[in-house]
Amino acid sequence: MTTPQFSFDEINEKVAVINGGSGVLCGDFARALAGIGAKIALLDINKNAAQKAAGDVVKLSGAQVIGIACDVLSKESLEAARIQINSEFGPIDILVNGAGGNAKSATTEIEQISDMVDAPKSFYGLEIDGFNSVFNLNFIGTLLPTQILSQDMSHKKSGVIINISSMAAFHPLSKIPAYSAAKAAVSNITEWLAVHLAPMGIRVNAMASGFFLTQQLKFLAFDEAGNLTPRYKRVIGKTAIKRLGDHEEF
Ligand SMILES: NC(=O)c1ccc[n+]([C@@H]2O[C@H](COP(=O)([O-])OP(=O)(O)OC[C@H]3O[C@@H](n4cnc5c(N)ncnc54)[C@H](O)[C@@H]3O)[C@@H](O)[C@H]2O)c1
Repeated sequence: MTTPQFSFDEINEKVAVINGGSGVLCGDFARALAGIGAKIALLDINKNAAQKAAGDVVKLSGAQVIGIACDVLSKESLEAARIQINSEFGPIDILVNGAGGNAKSATTEIEQISDMVDAPKSFYGLEIDGFNSVFNLNFIGTLLPTQILSQDMSHKKSGVIINISSMAAFHPLSKIPAYSAAKAAVSNITEWLAVHLAPMGIRVNAMASGFFLTQQLKFLAFDEAGNLTPRYKRVIGKTAIKRLGDHEEF
């Protein structure tokens, strides 16, 4: 039996697109891919943040990195980004769909309802606009970029797509129904796409991440005094490492 040889050489010079690229976890993705020689386009709705994040990765790694303003919910914006990436780097080989997250507008104030007096703080008080915005960002914000940014891979019959799901896809978290449902949909479309795109030589996988201390988690995990909420103590108690993850462990 021969010993398997692992190497990242095949990533060298590959063109990687990272959506939500100026965010905390996707920033780590960018630094890791830059370190093994990929050319990277960081796409983010926030133009300044995308360009700053790209500059930071260049300083750190010397890799070829560009920051592009792009809304993952807009076909026109994604098509414009694809044209720019193709002209600066060539065809896309790797796509990381990392734009996503939860919002207060899609979060119930209470975990369970036992009296209709609390209806406004519960599921019954959620506005559909808030639900839509979180569901669409996570689900459509994975679907639409895949439709537009994986076409180069299909032409080449080779490529990799990584979607970011969550443990909330398997066990919906209290208070965040739209986020949990959207991540379940991300896991589901990942399996569907893996089968649909397999004959084109494209691998589609999703990471179901646990709980990392990022900006968007802060309002859910800590109270105003900066103490971990009882709900998050329970969440952490159910994790293997019994603490929040550090983003560098992503
Ligand atoms: N933080 C966690 O514990 C955790 C756990 C599981 C999964 N995730 C998932 O990991 C991914 C990254 O999370 P993070 O914690 O690093 O979040 P983050 O908020 O740091 O990054 C998200 C990025 O997406 C960008 N974005 C938002 N809307 C966009 C749009 N319409 N178009 C393009 N970009 C847009 C934001 O500007 C931001 O830079 C998300 O999908 C999140 O749901 C996070």
